[in-house]
Amino acid sequence: MAAGATLILGIETSCDETAAAIVRRNDDGRGEILANAVLSQTREHAPYGGVVPEVAARAHIHHLPGLVQRALSEAQVSASDLSAVAATAGPGLVGGLIVGHTFGKGYALARDLPYLAINHLEGHALTPRLLGECDFPYLLLLISGGHTQFQLVRGVGDYLRLGTTIDDALGEAFDKTAKLLGLGYPGGPQVEAFARNGNARRFPLPRPLKGRPGCDFSFSGLKTAARDTAQSLPALNDQDRADLCAAFEAAVCDTVADRLSHAMAMFHEHADDAARPALVVAGGVAANARLRQTLGEITRENGFDLHVPPFHLCTDNAAMIAWAGAERLARGEKDTLDAPARARWPLDQVSAAAYGSGRLGAKA
Ligand code: KG4
Ligand code: ZN
Repeated sequence: MAAGATLILGIETSCDETAAAIVRRNDDGRGEILANAVLSQTREHAPYGGVVPEVAARAHIHHLPGLVQRALSEAQVSASDLSAVAATAGPGLVGGLIVGHTFGKGYALARDLPYLAINHLEGHALTPRLLGECDFPYLLLLISGGHTQFQLVRGVGDYLRLGTTIDDALGEAFDKTAKLLGLGYPGGPQVEAFARNGNARRFPLPRPLKGRPGCDFSFSGLKTAARDTAQSLPALNDQDRADLCAAFEAAVCDTVADRLSHAMAMFHEHADDAARPALVVAGGVAANARLRQTLGEITRENGFDLHVPPFHLCTDNAAMIAWAGAERLARGEKDTLDAPARARWPLDQVSAAAYGSGRLGAKA
C-alpha cells in the first residue's frame, strides 16, 4: 500500500442489512472499494410485512463474522493489513447497532487498531466523495425506509439539516401503502410495478406541505388518504390497486419536486460559494424510476448537477461506513471504546431539536 494510504474495514448493522466492506483511501484522497459484502434479511422479515428488530439483531449476530471474513478474502487482504475499523453506531435499531458496534470494537481492540464509531447518515452523505463525484458543498436528499431529509453537506462533520419529515419516512410511506393494498414487502418496488399499469388521475390524493415555506416533508396524510380511498371501494381489484399506486406515486413526485425547489433556494442562501451546485440522492427510494425522472427535471431547471450513486451504494452498505471512517481517520480522528450505540443520532446537532421528540433528537 502506498505511504499515507489507509485500508478500512467497515461494518453496517443498523437495520435489516448485514454488511462488511474493505475500502482503501489513497494518499491523494481517492477512494477504492476492494470488497462490499451485503446480506439482506428481506426473507427473514417478509412474513411480518416489515423489519422486526429482534429478528434483525439475531440475524446480524449470525451473519456478521462470516461476512467480515468474506470481505477480507474478496479484497485479498488480511486483518494485519488494516489501518482501522469503522462500524455504524447509530442511528437505527439499537439491537442491531449493538451487534456491529461491539463486534467492531472487539475486532479493533484485539488487533490494536483505531476504532471509528460512524453515524449511518454520514455514510450516506459522503458516498459521492468515495466515488470522486463532487466537491463540498453539496445538497443531499436522503430518502430511505427510515429517513427523509435534506442536508447541506459543507464538509466532513459539517452538516446543516435544511428539512426533514415531520412524520413518516418516504420509504415507510411506500411500504405502508403497499401493505394496505395487500402487496408484498418491501413495498416500494411493488408500488412502482403496479403504478406502471395505473391511471394516476382516477383518484385525487393530497400533496402534503406543497407550497409551504421551507423543505420539510409530511407523508402520513397521503398514506391515510390512500387508505381511505382503498376502503371506499367495494372490493379492490388489480386495476384499482394499479390506479391507486399510480396516484400515490404521482403525489410523491409532485411533493418531492416542490420541496426540492425550496431546498435548492435554501442551498443558495447558505452556500453561495458553491462553484457548481449539485444534488446528491441516497436511500432505497432513489430506485424509483418516476422519482428519478422528476429529480432530473427539477435539477436541470435549477442548474444543479444530479448525482445518484449506483443502487447498491444508495441503499445500506458497509463501503459507505468504511469510507466515512477513512475520511475521519485522515483528519486524525478516532473514537474511544466506550462510545455508545445511539438509536437516535442526528447528523446535524444544531437543528436536531426542531421537531421536539425529546432530548434524543428527531426520529426521522
Ligand atoms: O435505503 P434502504 O434500502 O434501507 C433503509 O431504509 O435503510 O431503503 C429501503 C426503502 C424501503 O422503504 C423500500 O420500499 C424503498 O426503499 N424502495 C422503493 C423502491 N425500491 C426500494 N421505494 C419506491 N420505489 C422503489 N422502486
Ligand atoms: Zn440507510
